[in-house]
Amino acid sequence: MKRSITVRLVAMFTVAALATFALIGAALHGVLARELERHQYEELDTTVKSLQFWIQAIGTPERWSRVQARMDALTPEDGSVRFWVLSDDPRFQYGKGLAEIDGLTREANGRSTDIVLPGQERPFRTLSVHVPPFENRPAVRLIVGRNSEPYERTRETFLTALLALGLGGVLVVAVAGYWIARVGLRPLERLSGEAQALRPKTLSQRLQTTALPVELSALAEAFNGALARLEEAYGQLEAFNADVAHELRTPLANLIGSTQVALSRQRSAGDFEEVLQANLEDLERLRSIVNDMLFLARADRGEVATGLVLTPVAQEVRKTIDFFEFVLDESGSRVGIAGDVEAQARLESALFRRAMSNLLQNAIEHSPPGAQITVTLREEAAATWIAVSNPGAAIGQLHLQHLFDRFYRVDASRNDSGEHHGHGLGLAIVKAVASMHGGQVSASSEGGVNTFAFSVSRTG
Ligand SMILES: Nc1ncnc2c1ncn2[C@@H]1O[C@H](COP(=O)(O)OP(=O)(O)OP(=O)(O)O)[C@@H](O)[C@H]1O
Ligand SMILES: [Mg+2]
Repeated sequence: MKRSITVRLVAMFTVAALATFALIGAALHGVLARELERHQYEELDTTVKSLQFWIQAIGTPERWSRVQARMDALTPEDGSVRFWVLSDDPRFQYGKGLAEIDGLTREANGRSTDIVLPGQERPFRTLSVHVPPFENRPAVRLIVGRNSEPYERTRETFLTALLALGLGGVLVVAVAGYWIARVGLRPLERLSGEAQALRPKTLSQRLQTTALPVELSALAEAFNGALARLEEAYGQLEAFNADVAHELRTPLANLIGSTQVALSRQRSAGDFEEVLQANLEDLERLRSIVNDMLFLARADRGEVATGLVLTPVAQEVRKTIDFFEFVLDESGSRVGIAGDVEAQARLESALFRRAMSNLLQNAIEHSPPGAQITVTLREEAAATWIAVSNPGAAIGQLHLQHLFDRFYRVDASRNDSGEHHGHGLGLAIVKAVASMHGGQVSASSEGGVNTFAFSVSRTG
């Protein structure tokens, strides 16, 4: 089951309320119990003191009968207050069940004790004092008892009321907590509503962050950041699709055009051969675009180079240069290797040569005949860099940052009338190869020398 913030908040509110009420309730109950106790004691004490004062001055059995009458008068009908006087002389005694009372209260001189009289259910709170002898009277012990049941009942009623109030309070807190949680979480609902309404067509929309509480605005901003990146990626994808369609359209139009022309009238086998030959070039061009795109798609999916082998980089470079022997002879250009020529790197050689030959091809295409092209190797702590430099016209900073993008060319004219037939994927592939080796790319144009470089990681 999914965890609900509302449920958790309500549970926490309830537990907190329960603890608070229990604490307050316990404290209140304690105070009340103590006050009742004190009250009871004071009442007993007052009665005991006044009787004691009176008994002190009585020394004969004749006058003792007045004490008895007085105590009789003080004893209420319901027997809730009772008196006993214990004495060795039976003439100076008062009350029933004296032997038991004596046993129950002997220890408690001046202190109050609770006793339960035999044959009675009601508890009595008693207080006893010694009264010293006077004239004919021996020392006596006076005991006053008061039924403590009403006090008990008050305490119990109070306790019940406290419990009921406490539980009611907890219930109120739980309901209020639920409501508070719902109101508090409302911005979240609004946010998810907004997020649900997002469609690819509305990717430029952002979540409203101004009206949100701080806790949520960070989330919404992070989400908006993700949206922005998505939008950019989506835009690139759309542009890429348009570019692909555009790239494929020209060779297809050529193929259709030449085929239509060939078919428009009777031709010899030799004519057809010529047309097919021309078509083959366009078809190969189509194939190379499709292959390049498939390769880039693989790299996009996060594919990394496998079968990495520690290889002397210069050796791989030289092998790639050998492939260009014929082209180099034709243009009179030369390629040299400089820098850390001993450098070794972990490479997948097919990928490496693919990147290398794209760079060399560009360098040859974009430099004057007879130019000196240099491949510079440089070992750094984390990466090995391979840079290809050739003399050539300066490239603007604006172009430099985009040259590794797909289909990006300096002369933006996409029609095929230009003298070189690149389709703008070469450097994108170099970048893909670099990233498959955990590396990066860079481009610079300084002092009439253009340098394009890529790196392969030494750690990965
Ligand atoms: N050595 C270089 N000197 C000057 N400009 C260059 C150089 N290398 C690349 N460029 C510029 O960068 C653009 C992109 O190069 P990239 O290799 O990606 O595509 P391409 O060469 O046009 O086509 P492809 O390599 O796919 O056949 C080129 O069109 C060119 O404008
Ligand atoms: Mg190229």
